[in-house]
Formats: sequence, structure tokens, C-alpha cells
Amino acid sequence: MIKMKPNKVISSKDEKKDIPTTQLIFLGQWVFVLLFLPCCTSAACDQVDRNALLSLAFKVSLPLNWSAASDCCYWEGIVCGLDDRVVHLWLPGRGLRGSISPAITNLTFLTHLNLSNNRLLGLLPDRLFSSLFRLQVLDLSFNRLNGHLPISSNEASKLQIVDLSSNYFNGTIPSSILIPSVAAGSLATFNVSNNSFAGSIPISVFCKNGSNHSNLTILDFSFNKFSEPIFTGLGTCSKLQVFRAGFNNLSGPLPDDIFDLADLQQLSLPVNRLSGHIGDGIVRLTNLKLLELYSNQLAGPIPSQIGNLCRLEELALHINILTGALPESLNNCTNLSTLNLRVNYMDGELSAFNFSTLQRLTTLDLGNNNFAGELPQSLYSCKSLTAVRFANNRLIGQISPEIGGLESLAFLSISNNFLSNAAGAFKNLRSCKNLTTLVLSKSFMNEPLPDDESLVDSGGFQNIQVFALGGCNFTGQVPPWFGKLKKLGVLDLSVNLLTGPIPSWFATLPSLFYMDLSNNNLTGGFPKELCGMPGLTSKEAIDLADRSYIELPVFVNTQAATNQQYNQLSSLPPAIYLGNNCLGGNIPTEIGQLQFILVLDLSRNSFSGSIPDQIRFLTNLEKLDLSYNHLSGEIPASIKSLHFLSSFSVAYNDLQGLVPSGGQFNTFTNSSFEGNPGLCGPPMLSRSCLEMPRSPGAVFRTTNTHTYETKKILIALVFGIFFGIGFGIGFTIDDAKIPFHGWCMNKLI
Ligand SMILES: *[C@@H]1O[C@H](CO)[C@@H](O)[C@H](O)[C@H]1NC(C)=O
Ligand SMILES: *[C@@H]1O[C@H](CO)[C@@H](O)[C@H](O)[C@H]1NC(C)=O
Ligand SMILES: *[C@@H]1O[C@H](CO)[C@@H](O)[C@H](O)[C@H]1NC(C)=O
Ligand SMILES: *[C@@H]1O[C@H](CO)[C@@H](O)[C@H](O)[C@H]1NC(C)=O
Repeated sequence: MIKMKPNKVISSKDEKKDIPTTQLIFLGQWVFVLLFLPCCTSAACDQVDRNALLSLAFKVSLPLNWSAASDCCYWEGIVCGLDDRVVHLWLPGRGLRGSISPAITNLTFLTHLNLSNNRLLGLLPDRLFSSLFRLQVLDLSFNRLNGHLPISSNEASKLQIVDLSSNYFNGTIPSSILIPSVAAGSLATFNVSNNSFAGSIPISVFCKNGSNHSNLTILDFSFNKFSEPIFTGLGTCSKLQVFRAGFNNLSGPLPDDIFDLADLQQLSLPVNRLSGHIGDGIVRLTNLKLLELYSNQLAGPIPSQIGNLCRLEELALHINILTGALPESLNNCTNLSTLNLRVNYMDGELSAFNFSTLQRLTTLDLGNNNFAGELPQSLYSCKSLTAVRFANNRLIGQISPEIGGLESLAFLSISNNFLSNAAGAFKNLRSCKNLTTLVLSKSFMNEPLPDDESLVDSGGFQNIQVFALGGCNFTGQVPPWFGKLKKLGVLDLSVNLLTGPIPSWFATLPSLFYMDLSNNNLTGGFPKELCGMPGLTSKEAIDLADRSYIELPVFVNTQAATNQQYNQLSSLPPAIYLGNNCLGGNIPTEIGQLQFILVLDLSRNSFSGSIPDQIRFLTNLEKLDLSYNHLSGEIPASIKSLHFLSSFSVAYNDLQGLVPSGGQFNTFTNSSFEGNPGLCGPPMLSRSCLEMPRSPGAVFRTTNTHTYETKKILIALVFGIFFGIGFGIGFTIDDAKIPFHGWCMNKLI
């Protein structure tokens, strides 16, 4: 009887409209009809409904054709039912603004209300649920509605779909508005995700004990502030297919009765405080396709019979405290495409597990565990793999030639393991033509950095964007073949034993924007050519470079305690790190060309001469570290125009004269300047410029006893890329939940 499409009117309505036409032809009442036609057609729509609709008075840029003179059953977004009562109000994504007027409660025949994806704000009318008791479908998702949900309800309610997700609602979920629909067995979908609801999830309301006629199939409570006590009673919602309550504050163990839900396809409870073991009962959920329990405090082993879940496509148990080996039965989950067990305490010989049955596997993340033994040979038969992370385990052995068969492989991180034969590894990896990210930091130890030109001759590594080889104690010079990696954006060769000069061909790499050569034994000067690196000087080059996508996000650790997650390459800060080498000579004045650089670290070298005034052109600079060099002269006062500069050090040089004041300089403390006997003035509180021995160029001033805001400066920036998988851009894992399994000096691992 009721059509789902707006503006379609049921047949009884059409018959009525025909009446004036017949009158027109057979009765010849021309004048009468012409005069009253507008009034008669509008009269077709119920007065009460029309008035209610007009009172809604939505603000909208592109006007609705809701003219009082026309039949409201023909208005945009309206469908009438029997007796010309409005049954559908369906205006999703129509740019509606303002609040939902209480007048809506006069549309008592409404069965379908969809105002999703608008810009509606304010509270829901008090009597929404009690007056609109015929409502079956209610979709107000993606608005800016707020406040508590109204509690007044109607015994006759038979709601089927309720979607209030992605608003700003708060308070608890009132059971009163749900009880009638649950009792009637009508409620099928309830989605309140992405709000600020609190209290407990009222599972007992949804899944009433003994009510076996529940039709509930989808429940989504994720991204709210729901907390203890943990829900129980889900087991009686026997038709449940989707249960999501991630990103809340739920605690306690997984309730056993969840495992009675034979139809369940999605169980998603990540980022909560769930504890205890993953019960063995979980293997009864044989319809499960998605199991997400990451970022909790789940302990113990993965149930050994997990292989019973033969429909499983995504298993995400990362960031827990799981122990034990990969259960053998997991290789019966042949539909598995994503397996993420990163950051747990799992162990055992990885090569004992047979990956070869997992032919659909695309993403495998086993980083930050205690897996031991050789790299698993069986993995090389999983031809669908696009991303593999083994970082931070205890794996040994070599990368086999078979890896070349993984043609889709784009992301590979084996950092912080105990591999050998770097030359062989590169030779074999060059066949992975789609490789964009290769992180092998701390994988090898004390080997020569392969300098075989033929690595790139056959088109090897031509798609590589991120190349991290830090912390391996690689010997030799920076090999020229890196100069042929035309897509290279991020290069980390830090913490090695590389000697020789910084090659000037770095400047010919069109995309390079992050270069870390720190902590090596490089000699020579700062090549002027570097100041022309396209990725740091040219807006066009930056726009052209492909920096959009990394298969797995990387974590950069800027200070010991904070990790920054990067889901796309474009958010990594453009940087040059040359700290802790044996570089000397002047800092070239051309440095001012690097206008897109955010971090410049030349600390702990032997640079001499003055700090070039041209640094003032680096208007995006956030961190500048020139400490522990032999720089002399004054600090150019112009540097204070660098508005984004938040970390600055010239400590331990031979600088003299007045410390610039004003701008960002008022936030830097003594530690930024110490170790320069010739510097004076605030914040060098201990030394007024008057006490200074006269020296040419030094400016003198009386002591200023201002105290300055203390701001911690990192003299040596220490980074570490950690390992993660995120779901969607912008999602940040609580850093405190990522345990550090060791400490390393190099930046990308
Ligand atoms: C109002 O617009 C809809 C299309 O959005 C159209 O179907 C309907 O006929 C129009 N009604 C009137 C009265 O103009
Ligand atoms: C509401 O309308 C949007 C846009 O057409 C649609 O995607 C959504 O499924 C509708 N809601 C319901 C519950 O049908
Ligand atoms: C609930 O709504 C959100 C949008 O607000 C959507 O992303 C999510 O997929 C929905 N949940 C389910 C289970 O469909
Ligand atoms: C995998 O499934 C088969 C039957 O489908 C079963 O015989 C075998 O025991 C299972 N393997 C494991 C390790 O559970």
C-alpha cells in the first residue's frame, strides 16, 4: 500500500484528483472550476498535515516547492497514503537547516521519516515518539542534533529502523521508546553510533529474555561514551547479524552468551577496556565475517579452534596482551583477507604456521610480537598480499627469491629483526614491482650497504616511495642507485656507519621531501644542490608527487612518549636530518630556497661561519636544530619572523651578541642558547649584556628579569616509526596502549 519512493502517490489519491476534471468536461462549470481549482487540489491534502508541514519551516537554500496553494501530497519529499494523510517525509541530503519543530508531531500518520545528512540542530521534539506512533523508519543520521532523547513513548509503536547516528546526542538511551517496538518484534536496525551517549548499553531492553520473536539484526553503538557494566543478555537476540560497540569505555570480559548468536556476521568491539580471555565459545560463531577486538586488554591465547570460523574475512586483534602461537587451525580460514595481530605478546616459530591456504590474504600485520624463527616460506604463495609487517619480532634468516612472486606487494616492513644478507634481500625484492614502502631498519647488522647498480637497472624499486634502512650499521657510502628512484619521497639511512660526502644527486630526485642521514660518519659540506630539492622548493613538484596512500599507517615517535600516526605520506613533515655526522664548512646561503621544509637538523657536526640570514625565508619551519657546531657571529634577528618555529636550538656554538626577542623567541628557554659564552640577554637570565666582554657586533642592554614560559626543547630529535593499521583516515590509537618493546635511536623502523 505504501510506496517507498517520495512523490509517488497511491492510486486512491489519483482517482480523487480526477473528479474536478470530469466536472470540467461534463458540467461545463468553467468559471467555477478555474476559480477554485487551486483551492480544490490543495484541499486534497489533509489540512492538519499541510499546516504541520508548513510550520516545520526548514531553512533551505534551494527552496522546496512547498507552496500553500498546491496539494501537499505533491510536494517534494512527501508521500500521502489513504485519506490523503502524509505518510512519508523523505528529505535526506537536502541542505535543511534549523531545528526540528514540534509541529512535526502533528504528522501522526507518518510511517517513514528520513532527514539524514542535513544540517539540522537542536533537540528532538518531546513527543516525537509518542505522537508519531505509526513510524516504522526513522533516519536522522548525519545532522547536528543534540541533547537527550525524548522519553515519552507510545504503546502502539512499531519501529523497524532507527538511525540516529552521527549526531551530538547525549544522555542515556531511554528504554521507554524501544520497549513497545521490541515487544512487537518489529525493531530490526538500531544505529546510534558516533554520538555522545553514556551509561550502559540497554541490551536487556533489546533482547528481552524469552522473547524469541526478536527481529533485531543490526545494533550499532560504536563511537560513544558507553561504559560499565558490560552488557549481558545479547544471546536472546537470536537473529542478530551485526553487533558493533567499539570506541566506548566498556570493560569486563566478553559475555559468553554472545557466542549463542548463530547468525552473527560482524562482532566489532575495538578500543574499549575488555579484559579476560577471548572465550573458546567464539568458535561457535561460524557465520562471522568480521571480528574486531583490537585495542583492548584481552589476554591469553587465540582460541585454538578459531579455524571453525571458515567465513572469516577480517580478524583484527591487535593491541591486546594476547600470548601463544598462531593457532594452526587458522589456516582453515581460507576467506581471510586481513589478519592483524600487531602489538601483542605472541610467540612461537612463525615458519611452523602454514600460510599457503590463505590465498585471499591481502594484509598481514604481525608487528610487535615475539615471533621467532625463519621468515615463513609458505607466505610467498599468498599471491594476493599487498601489505606485510613483521616489524619488531625475533625473526632470523634471509629474504628468499620467492618473494619476487608477490606481485601485488606494496608495503613490507621487517624492521627490528635479525635478518642477514642485505645484498641478497635487495636483489630479490627488486622483483616486487609494486613495492612502494620498504622498511628494513634494524633488520640487518654490520653489512655493507648494497651498491650494486644493477638493482635498479631492470626497473627495480621504481615505485618505491618510502625506503627506510636506518639502524643497521651499514658501511660504505650512500650508493648512487638511490639516485634513480624517481618516486622516492622518504629516505631514512640514519644510524649507520656511512662515510663519504652527501651526494648532490639527491637534488635530482623529483619527489624526495624527507631525508634522514643523521647519525652516520658523513664528511664534506652541505651540498648547495640540496637547496634545490624539488620536493622542498617547488609547489608544482609537491603537487605532482604521489604522496597519497600508504597501505598500513606508520607511527613516528617524536619524543619517547608520543607516537604520531601517519596514514598518508603527505602528512609526514618535509625534513632534512643531517645531525651527528662529521660535516663542516658554511651553511650555504641558498638554504633559504627550501621554503617548504618543516624540520632542519644540522646539529652535532662541525659547521662553521655564521647562521645565514636567509633562514628567515623558511617560513614553514617548525624545528631548527643547529646545536653542537662551531657557528659564530650573531643569531640573525630576522629568524623571529618564523611564526611556526616551535623548537629551536643553537646551543653549544660560538655565537655572540643579543638573543633575539619577540615572536616565537619569547617561548624558547635557556637550553636553546646555552653553551655560547658570547650570547647575552633574555632568556639567558644569568647573563646581562652589560656583563659581557666587549666583542665586535655584540649589542648591550640592561638585565631584564622577565621569566619566560618554559618549553621543552628537543635538542636531539629522536624518531621511531612504529607499526599500526588504522581503519580510515584520522583515527588515532591511544598511544599509551602501544607498549614499547625496546628502544632504538633511528627514526624509521
Ligand atoms: C515538486 O517537486 C517534485 C520534484 O522534486 C515534483 O515531483 C513535484 O511534482 C513538484 N510539485 C509541485 C506541486 O510543483
Ligand atoms: C535515508 O535516505 C538516504 C539517502 O537516500 C539513504 O541512503 C538511507 O538509506 C535512507 N534511510 C533509510 C533508513 O532508508
Ligand atoms: C551506523 O551509521 C554509521 C554512520 O553514522 C555507519 O557508518 C555505520 O556503518 C552504521 N552501522 C551499521 C551497522 O550499518
Ligand atoms: C580444517 O578443516 C578440516 C575440515 O574442513 C578439518 O579436517 C581439519 O581438522 C581442520 N584443521 C584444523 C587445524 O583445525
